[in-house]
This record gives sequence, structure tokens and C-alpha cells, in this order.
Amino acid sequence: MKILVVCLGNICRSPMAHGLLRDRFSEKNLKIDVDSAGTGNYHIGEAPDKRARENMKANGHDISDLKARQFTVSDFDDYDRIYVMDQSNYENVIGLARSPEDKEKVDLFLNIAHPGENMEVPDPYFGGDQGFQNVYELLSKSVENLVSELDNDGR
Ligand code: 4NP
Repeated sequence: MKILVVCLGNICRSPMAHGLLRDRFSEKNLKIDVDSAGTGNYHIGEAPDKRARENMKANGHDISDLKARQFTVSDFDDYDRIYVMDQSNYENVIGLARSPEDKEKVDLFLNIAHPGENMEVPDPYFGGDQGFQNVYELLSKSVENLVSELDNDGR
């Protein structure tokens, strides 16, 4: 199983989801590959935003090793599931899909915890520090649901 999480810049929301999933899968000994990417090219090669790193650190996760990259069409071949943070990411990723199979891999990350509600993770980039804790809390519930789903699958 390979999972990709996607946002716009790959420096705030998706690296936070990436770090959370990586740590929880590792704690549960689940052999699941996780990566993250951005639909935009503004921050390629950069570490996560300082506020994202600090928020994750305060919550017990280190994401300082991550580096931003851009989503590419070959990610449809390399990943089983592609989770996006908001509707705009969804449209950008779906716009690159080559087939119904590609499209079927894509869903909003918060639909894991809130099926069918199409809730978005708001972009915290232009806001204050509180936006990052809000993102952390929104992500956490879907992370726990996904870990439970994949943990039970493996038994
Ligand atoms: P992210 O946040 O998509 O959660 O990584 C953003 C980071 C940077 C920009 C937009 C969103 N930007 O426009 O540079």
C-alpha cells in the first residue's frame, strides 16, 4: 500500500499529514509507504514552513527532514491512494488524471473521517499560528481512522 497526500505548496498541510501518518504507521508496524506533494511549484526543495515544523514538534512529531516536491502524473502509477486537502487541490489533481482508474484514487483527506461531507483542510499559510493547530486537529481524526482501517486489513 502506498499513500500520497497532496496540498498546494507541500510546505504546510500535506507535510503535516505526511509526518503524522509516517509516525503512526511506524508505531503500529504497518508497512505502508507515505509521501506528500504539492500541486504548485513555488516551494520545490524547501523544508516545511517553520510554523508547521514547530506545531508538529509541539505535538511530538519531527518533519524537519521533509522536502517539498510537485505532484506529477506518474504519481497515479506509483500510489494506491491520493488524498488532497481541499477542493482546489482536488480539481488540480483530477485535471491531470488520464483514466477513470486514476480518478478513483483521489479523495479529500477529511472524507476518511467524515465520509461524503467533502470537508476541506483550510490553508493556514496566510494566517497565524492557531491555523496550524486547527490543521493538526482536523488531520488527526482522519489519520486515526486510516490507521485503524489499514491495521485491521492486515490481520
Ligand atoms: P500548503 O500551504 O498548500 O498547505 O502547503 C501553502 C503554502 C504556500 C502557498 C500556498 C499554500 N503559497 O502560495 O506559496
